[in-house]
Amino acid sequence: MAELKNDVFLRALRRQPTARTPVWIMRQAGRYLPEYREVRAEAGDFMSLCRNARLACEVTLQPLRRFRLDAAILFSDILTVPDALGLGLYFETGEGPRFKRPVQSAAAIRKLSVPDVGSELGYVFDAVSTIRKALDGEVPLIGFAGSPWTVATYMVEGRSSRDFKTIRGLAKEDPQALLTLLDIVTETTVQYLNAQIEAGAQAIMVFDTWGSALEPDDYRRFSLANMQTIVDNLARDKGAERIPVILFTKGAGALLADMVDTGCEALGVDWTTDLGTARRYVEDKVALQGNLDPATLRESPAVIRQGVADTLASYGHGPGHVFNLGHGITPDIAPEHLGVLVDAVHELSPQYHD
Ligand code: CP3
Repeated sequence: MAELKNDVFLRALRRQPTARTPVWIMRQAGRYLPEYREVRAEAGDFMSLCRNARLACEVTLQPLRRFRLDAAILFSDILTVPDALGLGLYFETGEGPRFKRPVQSAAAIRKLSVPDVGSELGYVFDAVSTIRKALDGEVPLIGFAGSPWTVATYMVEGRSSRDFKTIRGLAKEDPQALLTLLDIVTETTVQYLNAQIEAGAQAIMVFDTWGSALEPDDYRRFSLANMQTIVDNLARDKGAERIPVILFTKGAGALLADMVDTGCEALGVDWTTDLGTARRYVEDKVALQGNLDPATLRESPAVIRQGVADTLASYGHGPGHVFNLGHGITPDIAPEHLGVLVDAVHELSPQYHD
């Protein structure tokens, strides 16, 4: 395997000194890029793109050809796991993900079992090894999964939701059934992430997009506890150094202080908490990733540069910051605007490092 040529992202996750702040962008491969839309059209639909290692590799590399990014992220989705659990994932154009067989009752939960991850999700591991080879050591490859809670919201609601009525009802009426469901998703996710590591993923990120829909005690019980199990059970001692883990609960705010003790290397922060405040919550025990408001990318280059400057200043001096947006880039963004952001991080961040 080729030697890693750019390790600034992995060093920052480990809070080791770097000459500048690394940058990558959530959803950096996606619909805002015309070359992505072309390949997706060739594949036919989103899941066919995910299942084709050659095309998934191609779209993973597209943003790296345009922008000086410090990491690649596997092109896939968090909903591959419930698809492997037999729920029948499909995407309705313009309406996001749907399941043919959502799991809305204790009886439906009892019918679920951990699938054979190697056969059901082998296409993802093929994509990981294909991408890792194609990267040829230019930048590290991030593998990922959804948090069990976030994945379960889609499994129970059957689709994207704003109020999570069904799953929150289940949490109150039959918490044991929900915990059973979360256990199955957690066990599947551990195997899924370990196989990604085995195939070549060099860092792992867990996306907990909907954890903050829970009140704090329920967050700890139904979301954080399962992320803890994942961190505890990852086979992270692969090379000379442990594979770093990033946990991202969108909207975590003060809950960041609870997330620190999981044993992860880094926490993702959205734009509703400034990085200086987040750094105080976590007492510099872990690295922080984020957190420019994605909407900033709609504005002029001057506004984008100012946003980057403010985000860097908010984190302040020293190692342990990975620049990113506070959530994924949206399809309406002009690619050149992301170029302005990335260039600004390269230009403005060295002053924060010795
Ligand atoms: O970041 C990357 O570039 C890697 C790929 C990636 C995708 N989804 C590709 C994708 C990652 C890391 C995800 C994570 C994901 N997927 C999350 C957690 C992160 C977040 O954004 O909160 C969630 C909640 C999902 C579930 C999901 N997948 C939704 C709600 C949708 C529809 C979104 C939409 O805007 O239509 C998807 C589809 C999806 N996943 C797309 C991409 C590029 C768009 C598919 C397309 O139409 O081409």
